[in-house]
Amino acid sequence: MLPSYLTTLALLAQLSVAVNNGLARTPQMGWDNWNSFGCDVSEELLQGTARLIVDYGLKDLGYQYVILDDCWSNGRDGNGSLVPNSKKFPNGMAAVAEDMHSLGLKFGIYSSAGVYTCGGYAGSLGYEEIDAQNWADWGVDYLKYDNCYNSGQAGTQLISHDRYNVMAKALNATGRPILYSLCNWGEDYPWNWGSTIANSWRISGDVTDFYDRPDDRCPCPLILGNDLRIVKAQDLAIISNQAVIAVNQDPLGSSASRRWHYETEDIDEYGKGSIQLWSGSLYSTTGGDYNDILVVFLNGNNSPTTMNATLVDIFTDLGTARLAAYAAISWEVRDLWGSRMSNEEAQAIIDASSATGNLTSGYNATTVGEGRYNATAKSYAQGLADADPLLLGNATTTVQPSGTVTADVDRHGVAMLRLRAIPTEATMKREL
Ligand SMILES: *[C@@H]1O[C@H](CO)[C@@H](O)[C@H](O)[C@H]1NC(C)=O
Ligand SMILES: *[C@@H]1O[C@H](CO)[C@@H](O)[C@H](O)[C@H]1NC(C)=O
Ligand SMILES: *[C@@H]1O[C@H](CO)[C@@H](O)[C@H](O)[C@H]1NC(C)=O
Ligand SMILES: *[C@@H]1O[C@H](CO)[C@@H](O)[C@H](O)[C@H]1NC(C)=O
Ligand SMILES: *[C@@H]1O[C@H](CO)[C@@H](O)[C@H](O)[C@H]1NC(C)=O
Ligand SMILES: *[C@@H]1O[C@H](CO)[C@@H](O)[C@H](O)[C@H]1NC(C)=O
Ligand SMILES: *[C@@H]1O[C@H](CO)[C@@H](O)[C@H](O)[C@H]1NC(C)=O
Repeated sequence: MLPSYLTTLALLAQLSVAVNNGLARTPQMGWDNWNSFGCDVSEELLQGTARLIVDYGLKDLGYQYVILDDCWSNGRDGNGSLVPNSKKFPNGMAAVAEDMHSLGLKFGIYSSAGVYTCGGYAGSLGYEEIDAQNWADWGVDYLKYDNCYNSGQAGTQLISHDRYNVMAKALNATGRPILYSLCNWGEDYPWNWGSTIANSWRISGDVTDFYDRPDDRCPCPLILGNDLRIVKAQDLAIISNQAVIAVNQDPLGSSASRRWHYETEDIDEYGKGSIQLWSGSLYSTTGGDYNDILVVFLNGNNSPTTMNATLVDIFTDLGTARLAAYAAISWEVRDLWGSRMSNEEAQAIIDASSATGNLTSGYNATTVGEGRYNATAKSYAQGLADADPLLLGNATTTVQPSGTVTADVDRHGVAMLRLRAIPTEATMKREL
């Protein structure tokens, strides 16, 4: 037996390679029923929601995975296989997967790396091969793998890694590409080892429906958790904002970082307010030497706030030489929020949906939503390479060399800006 720090070092040495099964090259997008429905799941819920995802144009924006969460099974049969609850899923799971596939969507399922799931149903610990093979046979494309009832197999990175790795190997052995979404709530530092066995590794607890304060724990990938049957027009407009999705799906895959965070004297029922600046590098849509740059102003105040950041603040992590070059040129500022569809247009899309049963009401489903980005036809990577105007938000101002970026941000709101380098004589010469 090696001492534990040596086994950890050995583990880390062996873990230099990321999972490479072609999935989740950019963050997965889709819908999971848990937040709105809990255990109240059924075939009809998934079919109806899938229909809405298509009708509302969300599929063509990239929301592909329809993920069935906990409470779908009814124990194991004599062969050890999980049996779907026949009241909720009378036609079995392969039929549900087929429905999703026929709509051009993908089907996700849920289990726990424990004896039971969080809802108390049979878990997959000790049954990894059987379960993975059944899911592959049913046509499952995604596994959310939880952390409840893990029999104490946690407490060090190695123990958690090894427990989750059994399922990683079982999924791989099926030969079916199944996106492996490891969900151990950030226990045992999954940011150190998750990428080596899984396509996705959650680093926090559950998300909550609360927007009055920024939540440091929640980087939130784009998995919707709302009831799409009663979606409000403004919510549909927000989740359909292609210029913001293009940041999430940026081909560089480089995360943004917080540059500063100040408490303010803007006090409300939750205490002091705060303002934050985030920035990060994005794919260059100008084709030159300069990356595009994301700037996010987060206003945790209870009142509208004018927020400012110097180019030096924004570029601070680029390294000395690049920071100097980036601060020495002018930048076009694009508002990624300004180009979202109007609430009226979103309402027209909702009203025109065949899944709401009123396609006959006079709206023309082929004309509403016109001019939205179609990621099924053209990937975000290609759209950015083409500098597709749909992905670039609205042009606002120009920031001069060493200047300051300013935005008026609503209370408990956010401004999201894309900076694009404006070529100067010097940079153009360099390109020639
Ligand atoms: C299994 O793992 C190998 C090695 O990482 C990878 O090339 C392959 O695509 C994986 N197959 C599946 C089905 O996940
Ligand atoms: C168990 O597996 C055998 C062999 O594949 C099969 O014939 C039998 O129907 C299975 N039993 C159940 C309960 O699924
Ligand atoms: C931003 O700049 C404006 C004008 O210079 C100033 O009035 C405002 O107080 C600044 N806002 C913050 C949050 O620093
Ligand atoms: C963004 O640009 C579009 C198209 O030019 C325009 O209709 C819209 O009003 C602009 N939004 C804002 C907030 O300026
Ligand atoms: C469309 O159907 C939904 C849900 O049934 C309903 O709330 C809405 O009022 C209908 N819209 C129109 C324009 O008939
Ligand atoms: C809907 O709009 C499209 C595009 O303008 C048109 O070709 C089609 O005929 C319209 N359909 C109806 C039923 O009005
Ligand atoms: C998006 O593009 C795909 C593939 O070209 C096409 O089948 C689909 O109808 C398009 N969606 C919309 C809403 O136009």
